[in-house]
Parts: sequence; structure tokens; C-alpha cells
Amino acid sequence: MARRILTGDRPTGPLHLGHYVGSLQNRVKLQNEYETYVLIADVQALTDNFEHPEKLEANIFEVALDYLAVGLDPAKVRIVVQSMVPELAELTIYFMNLVTVATLERNPTVKEEIKQRNFTKGVPVGFWSYPISQAADIAIFKADLVPVGEDQLPMIEQAREIVRRFNRLYGKVLIEPRAMLGAMARLPGTDGGAKMSKSIGNCIYLGDPPDVVRKRVMTMYTDPKRIHPTDPGTVEGNPVFTYHDVFNPDKAEVDELKARYRAGTVSDTEVKARLYRALNAFLEPIRAKREAYANRPDQVRQIILDGTRKGRELAQETIAQVRNAMSINYSFTHSRDRTMDRARNALSHVWKTVHEIMTVPSTGNIAICWFCGAIRSLRNGKVREFTVDGRNIREVTTRPIFVDDETSANIIGFDCAVPDSNIDLDYIESTIRGIPEAFYPSVD
Ligand code: TRP
Repeated sequence: MARRILTGDRPTGPLHLGHYVGSLQNRVKLQNEYETYVLIADVQALTDNFEHPEKLEANIFEVALDYLAVGLDPAKVRIVVQSMVPELAELTIYFMNLVTVATLERNPTVKEEIKQRNFTKGVPVGFWSYPISQAADIAIFKADLVPVGEDQLPMIEQAREIVRRFNRLYGKVLIEPRAMLGAMARLPGTDGGAKMSKSIGNCIYLGDPPDVVRKRVMTMYTDPKRIHPTDPGTVEGNPVFTYHDVFNPDKAEVDELKARYRAGTVSDTEVKARLYRALNAFLEPIRAKREAYANRPDQVRQIILDGTRKGRELAQETIAQVRNAMSINYSFTHSRDRTMDRARNALSHVWKTVHEIMTVPSTGNIAICWFCGAIRSLRNGKVREFTVDGRNIREVTTRPIFVDDETSANIIGFDCAVPDSNIDLDYIESTIRGIPEAFYPSVD
């Protein structure tokens, strides 16, 4: 099974340094090892922005620009727009049966967000239940790994729970995902708050021009107890130093600044000025790449369309398996069409022929399906099905050969049975090989 990543962002505007440290950096690093899908979660963005759907299209474009700017390679990574994959909505509905209201109510991230949002007319069901749709995002792409920031851990846990329940109830179709945290689980805001958040306005965006970055850095929150450059300052938990640690590659400079800060021999202004220099050096190439793509909007749109098409193909494949597993793949058609439909949808038998050397003239070579252990032969216009019991091989059914029998979609009792049942193929094969020719049932 290919190792696969699915992760995503709500398109509520351009992405910031918090996104980079929390997840983007990991995606760029892992895109060579993992088949990577990145979801622009516009349906999720609607859950608290449903009054302004007209903003989504421009925001989707901004987020795609950020992805490309930080180095996600469009030749490797599929950028998928959530609303253009309606199968996600379908899977969300099925998943709703597998989650209790009480579980949703306990989700700490959603609780926190509800507090911030201050929904005056009550919490919309869509917002409150978005962890279910996020579980569908992850499950439909059969991702094993989800690089995210710390605040998303409850969503991944929820997805794991749903997948486990689904697989237990309906059969093992879905993959239980793992979360992967970024180098820094949570980057504080420029105001010293726990995290960067657009609604609080404490962000530095990946596309911010130098003067904006400068202003943001120079007005950053630092040690509030420090009034003069000669006061000993605190480095721990000071966001200016947290940023230095993350974005300043010159570790010697950072160590020296920390020592001087503690000793009271450096000004806040100098520490910030050096942070600005480091941060700007980091952002410069990202900014340049972002502008280059922004000047080629048609190319960006094509990248989004291509990624979404590939993403949807995968989603369609999974949703068909989901419906099969849930036995809601009805086809209310004429019975003959139905047989053909079933044959088409069925797992194909994989025939391994035995007795090629010792051909049994009247029976034909015996074949065993390596999935389900079914035994059959084709001869003289007849399909025969056998069972092995002890030292005997017994014929169970005989019927005329259909066209399908000649192909891999070959049917005995329609489709191939459970691939994971405990069939000892070696035993069956050795038994068949051990049965002397004379013991074969004599068939006409
Ligand atoms: N909830 C994520 C955020 O707010 C966005 C998201 C939607 C996501 N679907 C996802 C993240 C699937 C990881 C996997 O940033």
C-alpha cells in the first residue's frame, strides 16, 4: 500500500507562519516520500462563514499560491478543492451514524473555537459537527499520515475512532490515520498569544511584504517586565526568542542574543531588528515564488483543476468500496443485468492452475482461486466447481461456460469470497496434487 498523506487548510485567507511551522514545512519535506493530497477545505470554511460564500473562490486561490510558494511541487502534490468532491459529503453522512452527540460536545478544539466565534444565534450544526466531515476528508483518501498543527489532534483522534468503528461494522475498507506534528506544535502570535490566528490579527503572512513584516516584528510582544535594555530579561516563553529559535539559522547569533538579553546588555530593538533580518531572509524566496505564480493565474487554476480531478477519482473509488461494504450498492435492474453488474463489481477470482503436468482429460486442469480457495475447471463447454474433503475431490456444480468465465472476472457462485478468510491454499493445492488421477470424479 502506497504511503499517503492527506492534510488541508480552510481557505479563510492567506496562510501565515503558524501554518508553515505547524504543517506546511512537513508537507514539503515529505512530498517526495508520500503520495500527497492537500485539501483546500472550502466546505469546512463555510461552517462559520456561510454568510459570505462569495469570498471563497479568491481565498482558495490565495491558499493555492501559498502552497506553491513554500515549495509544494505541483508535479507531485495534488491540490484538491473540497466542494468539488461531492463524495466527501456522502461519506460525511454515513459517518454521522458512527459518532455520538456527546463525543462531538467533548472536542476541545471545537469548544475553544465556539467560544471565540461568539455565535449569536446558537452554534450551527455544520460547525459543531465539522470534525465528522474532516474524518471523511482523511478517510476518503485513505491517508495513513496527516501532518497538522497541535490544535488538530482531536480531529485526527475523532477520525481514527470513526474509521475503527466503520471497519469493525462493515469490513476493513478504510485506513486508520496517524497525526504528525510540526517542528513546533504551536507558534505563538506576535502578541504573545497561544497561537497565530487571523481573527485576532497577530499573524505574519507568508506573502507579507518586507515593510509589513518589519512593522509586525518591531511591535512584537516581549518580556513585559523589562523596561530598559539594562534590565535582565526572560528568554523562556518570550515569543521574540521563540521565533529566533525557529527562523534564525544562525544559532551562534541566537545564543549570544539570549545570553546578552538575560544579562541586560542588549536592547529589545536590537533583538527584534536581527529577528526581522532572519525572518525576511526566510520569507524572501517564498514571497518571490508567490509573486511569480500570482502573475500566472491560469497555470495556478490548471494545477488546482488537475489536482482536484485526480483527488476525485480516488474519492470515487473509495466511496464505491464504502457502499459495497455497507451493502448499499443496490442495482434495481433486470436480473440478468444484475448478474452482469455483480460480476463486474465483484472482486475477481485469481485463478492458479494446478495439474498442468498431469492433465485430467475429462475434467480439465484444476484451478484454485488464491483469494477464496474456490476450485474449478473449464472443459468441453462446462464450468465445474469442486470441493476438497479429506482425500477426495467432489464436484459440486456444473454449468455451461459463459464468456466471463474465460476472463479474470470469472464467476463461480458470482464473486470471489472474503479474501481475508483463513484459507490454507497450500493445503488445498497439495491435496489436489496428491489426488491420483483415478480419484477424479468421472465427468462426461
Ligand atoms: N481543520 C483544518 C484547519 O482548520 C483544515 C482541514 C480540513 C484539515 N480537512 C482536513 C486538516 C483534513 C487535515 C486533514 O486547518
